[in-house]
Amino acid sequence: MTQESAAAAYAAPTRRAAAPASNAPLRKLYLALSEAAPDPAALAAAADWLAVRLQESAAAASSLPAPGHGAAFTAFLAARQDEIDEQYKQYVAERRAGAPRRMFSGRAHALYYLKAIAPTRLTDGAWLYGALARWNEPAMRPLIATYLEELGNGVPDKNHVVIFQQLIDAHGSNGWQRLAEHHFDGGLTQLTLAHHAERFFPELIGYNLGAERADLDAQIAAYELNELGIDPYYFTLHVSADNSITGHASLALDALRSLTPNDETTAGFLRRVDAGYRLHHLAADNAALLSGFALRAELEAALAVKNVALYHPANTVRIGARALPEWFGDSEAAPQLLELLESEGWLVRGEDAAASRLWALIESADPDTPAEALPLASLFTEYELALLADWASTPSQGTAHAPVRLVTTPPRRINPAPPAAPERVRESAERGIIRHRFPDDEHGWEALANELSLLEARIVASNSKEEAIALLAALMGPARHHASTGLMATRMFSQLFSA
Ligand SMILES: [Fe+2]
Ligand SMILES: [Fe+2]
Repeated sequence: MTQESAAAAYAAPTRRAAAPASNAPLRKLYLALSEAAPDPAALAAAADWLAVRLQESAAAASSLPAPGHGAAFTAFLAARQDEIDEQYKQYVAERRAGAPRRMFSGRAHALYYLKAIAPTRLTDGAWLYGALARWNEPAMRPLIATYLEELGNGVPDKNHVVIFQQLIDAHGSNGWQRLAEHHFDGGLTQLTLAHHAERFFPELIGYNLGAERADLDAQIAAYELNELGIDPYYFTLHVSADNSITGHASLALDALRSLTPNDETTAGFLRRVDAGYRLHHLAADNAALLSGFALRAELEAALAVKNVALYHPANTVRIGARALPEWFGDSEAAPQLLELLESEGWLVRGEDAAASRLWALIESADPDTPAEALPLASLFTEYELALLADWASTPSQGTAHAPVRLVTTPPRRINPAPPAAPERVRESAERGIIRHRFPDDEHGWEALANELSLLEARIVASNSKEEAIALLAALMGPARHHASTGLMATRMFSQLFSA
C-alpha cells in the first residue's frame, strides 16, 4: 500500500473545496455506501467528503502522545482506562446515593438514543473492512483479528451488527433512515474508511485507536438501559471487548506499532494517525445526539404520523368529539389530543401513567383479561407508549419527573444495577432469530440452503488459498457480513485466517 503524503490524501477536488463537509448530503451518501456494490460516483463523493472532514478535524487540538514516542501510547491508553474506571466507579456511587440518571431522562429518551446511534452502530467495525485485502501480511493481523471479532467470527449471536439490529427491532427503535443529517456522520466516516482503506490508511489506524478503547458512555448507557428494562448487552459486550488490557484497544495499539513505518516518513504517518484519532472524536458526539431529544415534540411527531385501520377497536374510544384514531396522522391535531387527554382525565400529569384511565384500556394486570376488553392493547408501539408514559409522568409545570413505574411491555431483564458481567447478562437475554436475514417459508430456506451450498462448493473448487480468501472477503463487507452468506463466509475466513 502506498503512503501518500497527508497533503495529497486530504486534497479535495477544487469544485468541492469551498463547501464545508457539514453541508454534504450525509444520509444519501451513507445509504449509497450501504449497498453491497456502491455506486462509483458515491464512493468518490464520500472520499471527497472525508478529505474535507479531515481538513476540519486538523484544526482540533491533538490528544495523542507526540509522534515518535511509541511507549507513550501504551501509557496513554492505560491512563485513559484507569481514568474511565475511576469515573465509572464515581458514577455508580453517585447513583446509589440517589443521583438522577445522567444520560436518559426516561425510557422514551433511551429508546430514542438507540435510534439516534443506529447509523453508526449498524456499521460497527466497518472501518476495518479494507484490512482484509492485506490478509497475508503479518503486520495486519491485529486489525483483521479485530474485524473478525466485530463480526462475531461469523456466529450471528456474536456479530455486533446483528446484535444491535436485534436490539432496535425488539424495541421498535427503527425508522433511523429519517434521522437528521448529522446522525449519519459517524456511519458515513466508517463506510468511507471501509471502501477507501488504501487512501486513508494511517487515518484508519488512528480512527481504530479512537473507536476501540474503553468508553465511559458505553458503561453508563449499559447501566441506565438496564435500569429502564432495556437489554444492555450490546453495550456491556463493548465494555469487555474494547478494554485496553487484552481487548480491541490493545490490538489497536499493536496495529499502530506493527504498521508504523520506521524511516523518514514516520513523522508524517503519525500525524495522519493523529488526524484519524481526532476524526473519531468529532464523529462520535454522543452529547449532540442525546440533546436532540425533546419529549413533547417527539410525542406530537409520533402521533402526527400514526395511522390506524378503520376496523381497529380503538375506534370505539372517543376523546373529545372524535374517535381516538381520528386524532392521529395530523400534526395540528396532536397538541389538541394531548390537551384533551389531560383535561378529560385520561392521564394525570405528574402521576404514574400505569394508574391512569387511558392505561386501563391498554394493559391489564390480570392475565385472564381477554384482549377484546382492552381496545387500545395493540394500538401503540413500545416507543409511543414510552413517550406517552414519560410525558404523563412529567408534571405540567416544571421539569421534574414523578417516580416512574415501567408501564410498557414487561422488561426483558432487570438486574439490580450496575449491570451484571456480560456473560451473565447474556444467559438471561431473550433472543429472537435474526430478523430480515433468514426466510420464513420452506422455499426461502431451500433457496438459502442452495446459496450456502453454492458458496461452499465455490470455496472447495478454488485453486488457491488466495482465490478462496478473495471470494470470502467480497462477502464480508459492511453491507453483507451480517446476512446469512456473509456470516458463513466469515466463519470460513476465520478458519483459513487462523490456519
Ligand atoms: Fe463493536
Ligand atoms: Fe471493538
